[in-house]
Amino acid sequence: MNWEYNMMDLANDLPGINDIPSVHQPVLLNEVMTFLDPQPGQFIIDGTVDGGGHAAAIVERIGAKGTFVGLDWDKQLLERCKKRFVGQSNVILLHGNYAELPEVMEKNDLVKSLGRADGLLVDLGFSSEQLEASGRGFSFREEFKDEPLLMTYDDSRTPVYQILREESEESLANIIFEFGGERASRRIAKAIKDHGRKNAIKTSGELADVVRSVLSTKYEHGRIDPATRTFQAFRIYANGELENLKTLLANLEKIIKTGGKAVIISFHSVEDGIVKRAFQSLAKESKITIVTKKPVEGTREEIKNNPRSRSAKIRVAQII
Ligand SMILES: C[S@@+](CC[C@H](N)C(=O)[O-])C[C@H]1O[C@@H](n2cnc3c(N)ncnc32)[C@H](O)[C@@H]1O
Repeated sequence: MNWEYNMMDLANDLPGINDIPSVHQPVLLNEVMTFLDPQPGQFIIDGTVDGGGHAAAIVERIGAKGTFVGLDWDKQLLERCKKRFVGQSNVILLHGNYAELPEVMEKNDLVKSLGRADGLLVDLGFSSEQLEASGRGFSFREEFKDEPLLMTYDDSRTPVYQILREESEESLANIIFEFGGERASRRIAKAIKDHGRKNAIKTSGELADVVRSVLSTKYEHGRIDPATRTFQAFRIYANGELENLKTLLANLEKIIKTGGKAVIISFHSVEDGIVKRAFQSLAKESKITIVTKKPVEGTREEIKNNPRSRSAKIRVAQII
């Protein structure tokens, strides 16, 4: 594992307790549509289609002659999304990891029939549906406390309850520190292991209670739940989120045709830093032009209407 990230990168950009909306709204939709600029007849890929919020706007723009491919690693969400686009033969919804997009395109004969895409959208992380309706233990909130502590998008990944059992105390502390920016990582890791020796942690509520037992109720002046950073850390680690992102960025030219754009939305500065550095090195190699010199953020109005957009940042590159 690579422990290169700085904890302060993650420290200030977590959503507050009341910032997760219960109905999913696509973030920065206007900005996405402006940068991606889908045209009638084009071939657009959404690597994180989820409930199809951005997808619906893209599908409308490319029209019946265009092709939309939506990928998601979460089978349950993909099934829901299929219902939204039923009867639309130009909408292809596929299960898979965006880190494997070139292979997914090849396997589904997309390259042979359509070539590379005119544009790619990736809206990183997880959605409110996963928090509130997946039953996979993503949430530390009281009402979801009995959910099994999986926190994985796909069953191929090791669930968090197993990670807690198998990893050493030191390794757990490193995960919590590195991917959660949590200063109390060592104390939390010790409490997890101490608890696990008597009673294995199996549910999201059990993990949240162990974290809360270690941290003060005045944690961050009540701005965020004490379990926020630990949950974020295990979600990122369990799904290999940063590795997936790096692989996707290394594959852009295999996915998108010359002149096509990659629009990436990230939610914390570690992700944004990975996108920024990958774009810089691809630009140096003359493989892309960077369209957004600085990351683009939501307008005040957007942030007011959709709290999830508060920490969202868009970076865009055009393939040369
Ligand atoms: C923030 S949501 C996307 C929301 C979507 N843009 C919309 O407007 O409805 C992120 C989605 O990415 C999916 N996801 C996370 N990691 C993934 C991966 N490596 N490959 C494919 N999908 C992934 C999650 O399952 C989730 O559905």
